[in-house]
Amino acid sequence: MSAIDYSDRIPNNVNLAGDRRLRRALEKWQPMFLDWWRSVGPQVWSNDEIYLRTAISAEPGGWANFGHVRMPDYRWGIFMAAPETDRVIPGGDDAGKAVWHDVPGEHRNALKRIIVVQADTEPASVEQQRWLAATAPSLYDARNLFQVNVEEARHLWAMVYLLHAHFGRDGRDEADELLERRSGDPDKPRILDAFNQPCADWMSFFCFTMFADRDGKYQLASLAESAFDPLSRTTRFMLTEEAHHLFVGDTGLDRIIARSAELTRVDPAGDARNQGGIDLPTIQKWINYWFSYCLDLFGSEVSTNAADAFAAGLKARFKEAANYTDHDAKNEIRELQRPTATGGLETFEVPLRLAMNEVLRDDYITDCDKSLVRWNKTLADAGLSDRLRLPNRRFFRRQGLYADAAFDLDGRPITAAEWDARVDDWLPTDADKAYVESLMVPVHEPGKVAHWIAPPRRGIHGHDLSYDYVRAEA
Ligand SMILES: [Fe+2]
Ligand SMILES: [Fe+2]
Repeated sequence: MSAIDYSDRIPNNVNLAGDRRLRRALEKWQPMFLDWWRSVGPQVWSNDEIYLRTAISAEPGGWANFGHVRMPDYRWGIFMAAPETDRVIPGGDDAGKAVWHDVPGEHRNALKRIIVVQADTEPASVEQQRWLAATAPSLYDARNLFQVNVEEARHLWAMVYLLHAHFGRDGRDEADELLERRSGDPDKPRILDAFNQPCADWMSFFCFTMFADRDGKYQLASLAESAFDPLSRTTRFMLTEEAHHLFVGDTGLDRIIARSAELTRVDPAGDARNQGGIDLPTIQKWINYWFSYCLDLFGSEVSTNAADAFAAGLKARFKEAANYTDHDAKNEIRELQRPTATGGLETFEVPLRLAMNEVLRDDYITDCDKSLVRWNKTLADAGLSDRLRLPNRRFFRRQGLYADAAFDLDGRPITAAEWDARVDDWLPTDADKAYVESLMVPVHEPGKVAHWIAPPRRGIHGHDLSYDYVRAEA
């Protein structure tokens, strides 16, 4: 593995110094990236010193260097995980054969599309979150938000490198367009729907990092099993950073739940809202909304695209190489359920390869459920009998088999009239949003935390909560 050259404008372990043409192309992209960061990246404390970790190498310990840094001076680098010796294609028709170091002509367009769709989510989330620091419940939380933001921007860099290095002219055009689309813009929206949804309050931010970043974990893990080795190594390195984003979401929600439980208990009517907190039914609505939006990110239950990508080895199942023995998956079937014309559900079978999106969605749901178990333990420890849950995968879907029918939280088919009668119990209403937004008052004093959320159990990198995670200019 090549060492980092600090004289480089772009820290990297991909030997940019040895490729002048590529380095120049990326150095040309860099000012456009910085313009993008300034205009739609974090708009609060944008020039102050933030306690951030920076990846400066892919060696153990090198990817997490902590220090105060102004975000525009952040060193966005291009890193790949170390190559695995004798790595073979994990899944599909060519499983077991040598991996590719260059893009095969016949898979060029499909691979480019996969990379662009993944890459597009990285800047989108930064755009969605750009005003949140104005209402941060603590400096600790503001710092975590910024950490997520700078790393999503680094993920953009990592994907743009692949586009520049392996896809020629159209790769460069795609890299430019990644800076031109905007989250929520009707004329030039981001590619995936969940990345065009507003993220206006901190409970949404924690749901986003819990559910959307976790979708990212599974998409990246699926690409880590790619036959295209540079994509596999790039996404493996991104996954090391992604774990912190998931931690931010999971623990952020756990802290809201802990405070909600405490306030529910002290309120004579058992309503945390009376005590200035967020009541559990409202938390449940945010979970219902974000979880179902994020399920859509996995794509249709039956998908020829997914089957083709698996067959070609472009991506594979979660931990394909380690967790499966039959890497061909050709003679297996998968049972699915679909709505019937008479308002019921029927089971049908498809070849497993056609159901690869659903297989990845299963792993994601299992992972989400682990957080629910932890949050419910928080409720039990607080002496409450209330529990939170994930809605059924059919609830409130906008894509795939369940998009055109209505289902309740248990996944039972219901009529449109039943949906209309109950939707306000299940999804955030305008009044709920207004209430949650009313709680979003900034707490920007070191060591202090907003009333509606419990303090974190510990600070960052051995520091306590009162550490100056954000050093605002006087
Ligand atoms: Fe990311
Ligand atoms: Fe992330």
